[in-house]
Amino acid sequence: MSDQSDPPAHDKIVVRPGFDTLAIHAGQEADRATGSVVPPIYATSTYKQDGVGGLRGGYEYSRTSNPTRTALEQCLAALEQGRRGLAFASGMAAEDSLLRAVTKPGDHVVIPDDAYGGTYRLFSKVYERWGLAYTHVKISDIEAVRAAVRPGETTVIWVETPTNPLLGIADIAALAQAAHEADALLVVDNTFATPYLQQPLALGADVVVHSTTKYIGGHSDVIGGALVTGDDQLGELLAFHQNALGGVAGAFDAWLTLRGARTLGVRMDRHCRNAELLAQMLLAHPKVAEVLYPGLPAHPGYEVAVKQMRAFGGMVSFRHRDGEAAAVEVCNRAKLFTLAESLGAVESLIEHPGRMTHASAVGSPLEVPGDLVRLSVGIESVEDLIADLEQALQ
Ligand SMILES: Cc1ncc(COP(=O)(O)O)c(C=O)c1O
Repeated sequence: MSDQSDPPAHDKIVVRPGFDTLAIHAGQEADRATGSVVPPIYATSTYKQDGVGGLRGGYEYSRTSNPTRTALEQCLAALEQGRRGLAFASGMAAEDSLLRAVTKPGDHVVIPDDAYGGTYRLFSKVYERWGLAYTHVKISDIEAVRAAVRPGETTVIWVETPTNPLLGIADIAALAQAAHEADALLVVDNTFATPYLQQPLALGADVVVHSTTKYIGGHSDVIGGALVTGDDQLGELLAFHQNALGGVAGAFDAWLTLRGARTLGVRMDRHCRNAELLAQMLLAHPKVAEVLYPGLPAHPGYEVAVKQMRAFGGMVSFRHRDGEAAAVEVCNRAKLFTLAESLGAVESLIEHPGRMTHASAVGSPLEVPGDLVRLSVGIESVEDLIADLEQALQ
């Protein structure tokens, strides 16, 4: 629930402001009580009522709503060109709330054959037991997606684009059409692209999912998740589940995430530029068998990526010519690239998906190749990143 007394700064501007203006101002009007330019951290669980039911600005209990969280939620809704944003304790908490809101036992969902391992684990180890059937398909193949839909049963088509960790690309507009023809919702996990590079709601998607832990937070210092929708009714349903289930972002986490969001655009420009240069360097390297980056014209999703993305993102994966042990060795030898899970922050990270982020997919249809290395390219001086990878690959 928002504070009704002061209209959000972006509502005062008649022409829709640019992305960076929204990132810095949407939901972040100066605090009414003090003029604080930065939204305060409302470290409170409850709110004094002026007589029974006399809520100030609609706030009654911080699981339901909290002004610091409202600021983040309004900002994320504006960045995604949505109408309702909801902030959660983690990306997985956001996914769980969404699935409980829009599916029920007996339903069926279509999921990507390449996805974050934790998302696959949620479908295969939690929701399947609960009675939610799933089919995994190559989501770049629209006909395969249509064929996987079970009329009357499929309620959600779930997409990541670019995918984690193989950097596959899905055509959001075409998938939205396929979903709506089947009376299903299209859910897009926009964590890798961020709203700066791609806005799925504007392309027809119904709900956007984020692990705000990644680029939106941007500094490896907070875990968070978000849902954004452009549909008011769906927004109400999601907000009901956010409150009923309770996996909300705390005020301190919401504040940190919002601080990150304010610089998302400038960080993404540098992430993309550094990643493009690293992809070029890897392409020419004799130890590299294949570079997976949607900004390379040889990438099978390049044309769709050009159509729906502003630039190609900061994630680059590659396959080592000498197999799994050599891929692991590159991860161990990197110095400036930190060997760690997660992605999307200012510092560069390197990891072996098969043994780290995607270990939960081992033995499943979503198992990733053992020779794969994933890079989250940070915003350091690119010549230092290139030098580090060169020494690690030797
Ligand atoms: C694409 C994607 N979606 C969702 C998640 C889950 O988010 P969190 O770790 O914040 O729960 C991740 C985590 O790595 C991810 O990479």
